[in-house]
Amino acid sequence: MEYNLDFKTSLYIMHNEDTEVSQSIEIETQRFKEIFKGNPRVVLLAGGGGYIGLCIANTLASKGIKVLIMDNFIYNHGKSLLSSLLNKNIKFFQHDLRDELEVDFFKKNNITDVVVLAGLVGDPITKKYPELSDDINNKAIKGFINSANGQGINKLIFISTCSNYGLIKDGEKADENFELNPLSLYAQDKVNNEKYIIDNRNKFDFSATILRFATAFGAAPRMRFDLTVNEFIRDAYIKNFLEVYDADTWRPYCHVRDFAHLIERVLIMEIKKTDYQIFNAGGDSNNLTKRNIVDLIQKYIPNLTVKYVDGGTDPRNYIVDFSKVKKVLFFEPSWSVNDGIKELINFLENGLYNDVEIDKNFYGNYQIINEQ
Ligand SMILES: NC(=O)c1ccc[n+]([C@@H]2O[C@H](COP(=O)([O-])OP(=O)(O)OC[C@H]3O[C@@H](n4cnc5c(N)ncnc54)[C@H](O)[C@@H]3O)[C@@H](O)[C@H]2O)c1
Repeated sequence: MEYNLDFKTSLYIMHNEDTEVSQSIEIETQRFKEIFKGNPRVVLLAGGGGYIGLCIANTLASKGIKVLIMDNFIYNHGKSLLSSLLNKNIKFFQHDLRDELEVDFFKKNNITDVVVLAGLVGDPITKKYPELSDDINNKAIKGFINSANGQGINKLIFISTCSNYGLIKDGEKADENFELNPLSLYAQDKVNNEKYIIDNRNKFDFSATILRFATAFGAAPRMRFDLTVNEFIRDAYIKNFLEVYDADTWRPYCHVRDFAHLIERVLIMEIKKTDYQIFNAGGDSNNLTKRNIVDLIQKYIPNLTVKYVDGGTDPRNYIVDFSKVKKVLFFEPSWSVNDGIKELINFLENGLYNDVEIDKNFYGNYQIINEQ
């Protein structure tokens, strides 16, 4: 078997920008030391037991940063935590965001920074459970953000989505100031939560950053095969058949482990670059149509049968401008969609996800197991 789990671990830093990045990190390191009196950084990942969260946890921990994962494993996907079992820097706390935390939770656990990933993720699952979605994605998230206020937290990163742009006109490209057009309950709650954070910036004592993630792809411990690129690869590999709706609609994509490096970057770069900033998170070259993705997959699975269908139920169509995150944080994804396809086909060929059909619910946000 030939694979390398992280053959592109380092952040993409262009050489002439190296100095600026390291100076910025140095400034933040000094500021952090002064505030926390030499105590280590401890990052709380709310929803850290999911697809993206576990990649962040493992990446931060590998850089020596302490991580506390908080999750309720709503899809009964707790076994994914085994990926972090041997890592001394990662701890786990079973908690449902709908429940109140102990008053001194943050101080007791020496939490310095918080990343908010938790929630029902995706249009289909929020549509299927609208009340639960309101309880978690709306009420519990706001309650949790409030509970982090006044606890001496340094940075709070809220993970939002490029789905907020919804449907944009042909030829347009959405930067962070582009009008938001959330078409689903999932995106509406993200937009509301973004607004809640920005509106309360004078009330909050932490420095917040909002990252609008592109659609993720790529291999991870809690794999999600309900996301376009991953789903296409699984179906192409297993069924040798793909049904593709609205093939010419655009979306941006980003490798799940690139997101982990971006989180690290937001945490360690000087606060003036991130303070109450909104960033589209991804890279311009990973804006693709579904047809583009199929064409890439066909390079590896040439005998694939594809049925193109018009008039699907997902009207989203947006191209996103990622120049701000590149300019301010010097972040560019190191993985192309083609790299991700190659990686995942390789993993499937080598049996890493050979229970994907047997344990379907583990591999995507299809059904809630722990509703209570
Ligand atoms: N995956 C993507 O393509 C994508 C794209 C844009 C934005 N995002 C955002 O990234 C974040 C992570 O997404 P993901 O793909 O890892 O999804 P995921 O569903 O794998 O992870 C979400 C985690 O939140 C946990 N959770 C749900 N309700 C909870 C509750 N009440 N209390 C505690 N934990 C709870 C779940 O158990 C799960 O582990 C989300 O905020 C999502 O909106 C993801």
